[in-house]
Amino acid sequence: MAILRWLGRCRPAGTWTSWRTYGTVNVLGKDYPTDAMTNVSPTILSKLSVQLHTQPAHPLSTLRSLVESHFPAYAHLSSVSPLVTPYQNFDLLSFPPDHPGRSVTDSYYINKDLMLRTHTSAHEVDVFSRGETTWLLTADVYRRDEIDASHYPVFHQTEGCRIVSADAAGMQEIQDDNARLEDHLRRSPILIEDVPHLSPTNPCQPAHDPKHTELIAKNLKLSLNSLILRLFGGKQAEGEPLRVRWIEATFPWTTPSFEVEVFFRGKWLEILGCGVIHQATLDNSNVPNKLGWAFGLGLERIAMVLYSIPDIRLFWSQDPRFLSQFKQGEINTFRPYSKYPTCFKDVSFWLPTDITLHDNDFCDLVRDVAGDIVENVKITDTYEHPKSKRKSICYRINYRSMDRSLSNDETNELHAQVTSRLQEQFRVEIR
Ligand code: DAH
Repeated sequence: MAILRWLGRCRPAGTWTSWRTYGTVNVLGKDYPTDAMTNVSPTILSKLSVQLHTQPAHPLSTLRSLVESHFPAYAHLSSVSPLVTPYQNFDLLSFPPDHPGRSVTDSYYINKDLMLRTHTSAHEVDVFSRGETTWLLTADVYRRDEIDASHYPVFHQTEGCRIVSADAAGMQEIQDDNARLEDHLRRSPILIEDVPHLSPTNPCQPAHDPKHTELIAKNLKLSLNSLILRLFGGKQAEGEPLRVRWIEATFPWTTPSFEVEVFFRGKWLEILGCGVIHQATLDNSNVPNKLGWAFGLGLERIAMVLYSIPDIRLFWSQDPRFLSQFKQGEINTFRPYSKYPTCFKDVSFWLPTDITLHDNDFCDLVRDVAGDIVENVKITDTYEHPKSKRKSICYRINYRSMDRSLSNDETNELHAQVTSRLQEQFRVEIR
């Protein structure tokens, strides 16, 4: 278990004034110095060693092995440390210096030089540099976020990549694979809404031959359509084909780029981002003469749909009534064991003028106090005093355990702790 030892007070840059002192934080058994960027909380650090995607019978583990079984010849990586440098997470993938993902309100930092990966793409350059050409990497990723049924600050992704030599032999390999996949998909009940492989708004990179890029993009689409058929196929209503929709997208390390949505139970569900790998990424990986594609798949999203799991917090449940419902390798419909009553409490306060309190700061504080007992957090009111221009905000916290009934006293106690931590950490004035 990650054990956190707070030797100093550490809050995101800009939220703390002169009385901040720094110490060290213990992450996965090692001490690291903290600084003005440090914003990891004990609750977040307690997740680092859990590795749900490798726990036998867990839905995320079954989904990982299902994806792996679809790419049997690929290297399958699933125990890579979540600690990366901002350079790995962003710079090596050509994120611009002012990209919002870099901010302390969006990402978790151990200190300015070390962070929790925000996506599995953070490992692309490392894995390519090691000589892997076809691989999958499944891991936990961390993003600061709101609290509701489909957002959790830790979730799981599978990155998938394929590179071949950018010459006639490599292109022949891709062409042969395309013919095989096309034949398979032609005979399958899948309806695909496609976009062109290349377009003025989703162009070929200047360093690449458009004919090669077309082949690679086609291989990407065929490979993923066939994976999606494997995951979602056969689960449609009688006689209904599986509907998949490709959309143009933009990612700093792929061009052209796409997103994919699947029509499931009456709604379009975005499940992945992908594209043709940027030459800069290949150069950074010391494979300048290769060409290929990459995708990143969100596992919780897909598992929630396939297993009918209604709330993302359930993935972290230790309750045998949850865990005993699953077997490794099998997808079954989750049976909710009960829904306990919800209890909401409001906290209304004047915002301090010298410290910024971001919604994500509020949510992290609430998670730190009440953990998974918080079902969601919503803003119910904001107000600006006409004369003094002071601003106030009211958050409504919905407390509901997934495993038991909460007593009123317990909820009151948790809420009182939220209120006092708010006053202590952000010096807000409760209304
Ligand atoms: N890393 C992206 C995300 O977390 C997903 C993604 C997009 C991965 C495009 C890729 C890619 O490999 O090529 O949103």
